[in-house]
Amino acid sequence: MTKILVIGGGAMGSAFTIPCLENNNQVTITEPYSKIFIKELSSKNKFHSSLKMKLPKKLKFRKYSKDLLKEKFDLIVIALSLPGIDFIGKELKNLKIKSPVLVLTKGLKYEKKSNRVLTIPEQLKKNHKGINVSILKGPCLAKELAKKNQTHVIIANKNINIAKKIGKKISTKYYLIEYSRDVVGVEVCSAIKNIYSMIIGSGQSLNTSSNLFQKSLIEMKYLIKYFKGKEKTIEGLAGVGDLYVSAAGGRNSKMGSYLGKGFTFKTAKKRFMPKDTVEGEQLAREIAPFIYKKINKKKIPLMINLLRALLKNKKLNITQ
Ligand SMILES: NC(=O)c1ccc[n+]([C@@H]2O[C@H](COP(=O)([O-])OP(=O)(O)OC[C@H]3O[C@@H](n4cnc5c(N)ncnc54)[C@H](O)[C@@H]3O)[C@@H](O)[C@H]2O)c1
Repeated sequence: MTKILVIGGGAMGSAFTIPCLENNNQVTITEPYSKIFIKELSSKNKFHSSLKMKLPKKLKFRKYSKDLLKEKFDLIVIALSLPGIDFIGKELKNLKIKSPVLVLTKGLKYEKKSNRVLTIPEQLKKNHKGINVSILKGPCLAKELAKKNQTHVIIANKNINIAKKIGKKISTKYYLIEYSRDVVGVEVCSAIKNIYSMIIGSGQSLNTSSNLFQKSLIEMKYLIKYFKGKEKTIEGLAGVGDLYVSAAGGRNSKMGSYLGKGFTFKTAKKRFMPKDTVEGEQLAREIAPFIYKKINKKKIPLMINLLRALLKNKKLNITQ
């Protein structure tokens, strides 16, 4: 029996345990940060407030500790949001992690010292050279996965055999997996689609949003190439697939729609989405210093307009 440890009991980490359990793996979930998720996952009925459902009884909950990371698992899954990557990177430091690691988190990190944008595997490998990191991305809403609605995702690793081995352990009839060697392309696509879904959301109507969708793809392609990913990845699940689902619904495009109506970010956040995390806005702030310094602004006018609106708290002015 394969032993899987899922770190992160939020919506995605918890939903991910469902196909894993269905594949007869022994699945343990742990939560290092949120008191609410700890309370829910350790309760008898395991009702998850974000997923609005009970999780399977077979799912084991363990209190988070660094010692837990030292135990033997066949797969360690990281399902924390982006700020959690800094945390877990530090926790893993100096530990001999031999198990393969699979990261579900989406995002990029700007490293000021080296003036570089790092993917999540690059961040984790900084403190831990020997660690083998695969990434799982693509269009997957946690609530749908938890309901066992059919979902297609992609696992990337330069060593495609490791990706396939992991896929075999977790895929089900409704959780279908594709594979890629293009770790950088998949990482960049799955992060920046949060920014572009805000831009598409600002379009309001089908006509304008469709235009913004098409122009967003051109900019995403340019950025993938810039970061040395493969252009073709934009056509896959991590690119156009994930952009579609995020633009059609979700917190980023919702915020985009308020920006498109003329609200500034601060007003829209306070008035309409006070409790929501808008990942696209967080990422935009994170990578803005790099974008301003290094990227040809003429190649990414939509992104530049959005950055101006977010960073200066101005009205969004997209004329395409
Ligand atoms: N790969 C996929 O198929 C897929 C699908 C959906 C979402 N995601 C990504 O998964 C990540 C989590 O999404 P979610 O919907 O579960 O979010 P969530 O808000 O429900 O859960 C966030 C998780 O991160 C933890 N966390 C937050 N801040 C932290 C900090 N400072 N230190 C340590 N832990 C912290 C929380 O405690 C919780 O476990 C996001 O990056 C999201 O983009 C991936």
